[in-house]
Amino acid sequence: MSTDPTLENLLDEHRRFSPSGDFSAQANVTGAAYAQAATDRLGFWDEQARRLQWETPWRQTLDWSQAPFASWFVGGTLNVTVSCLDRHVAAGNGERIAIHFEGEPGDTEQISYAELLARVSQAANALTELGIGAGDRVAIYLPMIPSAVVAMLACARIGAVHSVVFGGFSAEALRSRIDDAQASLVITADGGYRRGAATALKPAVDEAVANCPTVKHVLVVKRTGQDVALTDLDVWWHDVVDRQPITHTPASFDSEHPLFILYTSGTTGKPKGILHTSGGYLTQAAYTHHAVFDLKPETDVYWCTADIGWVTGHSYVVYGPLANGSTQVIYEGTPDTPHQGRWWEIIDKYKVSILYTAPTAIRTFMKWGDEIPAGFSLRSLRLLGSVGEPINPEAWMWYRHNIGHDNCPVVDTWWQTETGAIMISPLPGVTAAKPGSAMRALPGIGAEVVSDHGEPVSNGGGGYLVLTEPWPSMLRGIWGDNQRYVDTYWSRWSQFYFAGDGAKLDDDGDLWLLGRVDDVMNVSGHRISTTEVESALVAHPAVAEAAVVGANDETTGQAIVAFVILRSGADIPTDVATELRAHVATEIGAIAKPKKILVVNELPKTRSGKIMRRLLRDVAENRHLGDVTTLADPAVMMLISDGMAAGTEQD
Ligand code: PRX
Repeated sequence: MSTDPTLENLLDEHRRFSPSGDFSAQANVTGAAYAQAATDRLGFWDEQARRLQWETPWRQTLDWSQAPFASWFVGGTLNVTVSCLDRHVAAGNGERIAIHFEGEPGDTEQISYAELLARVSQAANALTELGIGAGDRVAIYLPMIPSAVVAMLACARIGAVHSVVFGGFSAEALRSRIDDAQASLVITADGGYRRGAATALKPAVDEAVANCPTVKHVLVVKRTGQDVALTDLDVWWHDVVDRQPITHTPASFDSEHPLFILYTSGTTGKPKGILHTSGGYLTQAAYTHHAVFDLKPETDVYWCTADIGWVTGHSYVVYGPLANGSTQVIYEGTPDTPHQGRWWEIIDKYKVSILYTAPTAIRTFMKWGDEIPAGFSLRSLRLLGSVGEPINPEAWMWYRHNIGHDNCPVVDTWWQTETGAIMISPLPGVTAAKPGSAMRALPGIGAEVVSDHGEPVSNGGGGYLVLTEPWPSMLRGIWGDNQRYVDTYWSRWSQFYFAGDGAKLDDDGDLWLLGRVDDVMNVSGHRISTTEVESALVAHPAVAEAAVVGANDETTGQAIVAFVILRSGADIPTDVATELRAHVATEIGAIAKPKKILVVNELPKTRSGKIMRRLLRDVAENRHLGDVTTLADPAVMMLISDGMAAGTEQD
């Protein structure tokens, strides 16, 4: 990708939303933080690290002499779980609810900080009894239930390294992750509840560990009570954990002691084990959770809808919120079980004040119709967050209006598994946010948009997003493959971290993420973001969701192919494809008109809700379908490719 002027700001977004005076007056962080961090970046992070409870103070904030391998808070020691649990209890907040758990079938649990500490202590004692020690790897393959949080924290408490594998992954995906990390224990459950039924987990574990000689035990939580075939490796959680003492004396670990590995897809078939360590990770998770969500531990009820299988679940369900002493909601199931208003019902029930979710969910709710959230109060909400992919202005506005009733700041937060914590986001009490823009790097973070040659682009220009300074929660490498770490992130320009995302700066210098670099299309020499075209399509009243890919085209280099889901109940024009092409031409320009538009009922999504554009490109380019096993619903692709074969081309 080059940064010639053809990478235009095709969508002209002029709307701005400032926080209310009341919100700003009570905000945790003011605009002064930017200046403070700019003047003394390391001093700023020192101050944030003091949010945590350290056993031994650090003697050096950052050691970058082994770049790109960072050490933060060098010489400091801590136990991450002491900052997340013990100190809240010691401060007299043991009775505060840490977790309101809502199971999909409607079962609930209220877990106080004192109770959570007791459960983590028991689990830590049990892990020790099972022979797990500091540095050992533990794979966690669980549904979204409190034991998942307990299992992660129990590992952290004894210095074991957790590797959470999303419960929707296959046996083979689990096996390869266990194998790569050489895990000696797997923590799982009989099953969990999804879409109104008990879904088994244990059979996938049995299949995976059959080929993993490093695994010495499988610790099984009873969640659903379904039949489980026990093997020699298996021990029930209730047998081994429940009989343990409810206290546990925590050891302290080096600030750079590994905390977790989390696998994420790269450009090759082999997932990368992203490695995070302790002091720096927790510092930035806690600070960003405080600053971006404006968390008030005494009064807020916070809900991040991510599964713990993803980094958002690590940083903004487990570590950030608990370090800050938050009260949060954890929900096990899907948003449409037993009805499409389940989330809004949960928000009213627990008086949730901060909601953090993903654009894909927001667009799904748009598709289901405004009347569903309108049937609930939602008055407790005071802040809304978004993460995971670019949020199109239309979805941003819908979220702000239909969920936030026009009086909640919306924070679009950009970050990655690799960054560990939020990097680019509005500050809710400070920023006049623009729908669809993640706005600015947070205080203490250096981000720029650069050209092919690594030179910063000027306002109005586009290029590659890079991170210019090391940050506390940065990945410390790829497990077992440090060369791949250097090659993937630090070789394009050795002085910058290459995030793999395209971005542009608007005339005010605010950042707009354009998606992964390989999602930027080139049509007749014009660079057009799939996100911009999708955004335009979704702005049409008949469209609920859209995915756009660039397909190879003999004439124009790439041609735009759009897959759209129509909004139920909307007025659908007879020739919808022609109308939508005209609409995109009006919204962006004739250059952005999709060559083909295919109306579909579903889009191929990973289980984390990301649209698999690669598969759509396969279909658009009439290629044999690639691997569909990571899709939430593999059958979707057959329907789409059949539809494509029957579709017509329009020029
Ligand atoms: O392309 C960016 C997109 O998600 C990628 C990181 O994915 P993952 O490691 O799975 O982490 C997702 C949750 C943090 C990024 O490279 N992305 C994430 N947040 C945003 C985003 N793109 C645009 N805007 C965002 N707010």
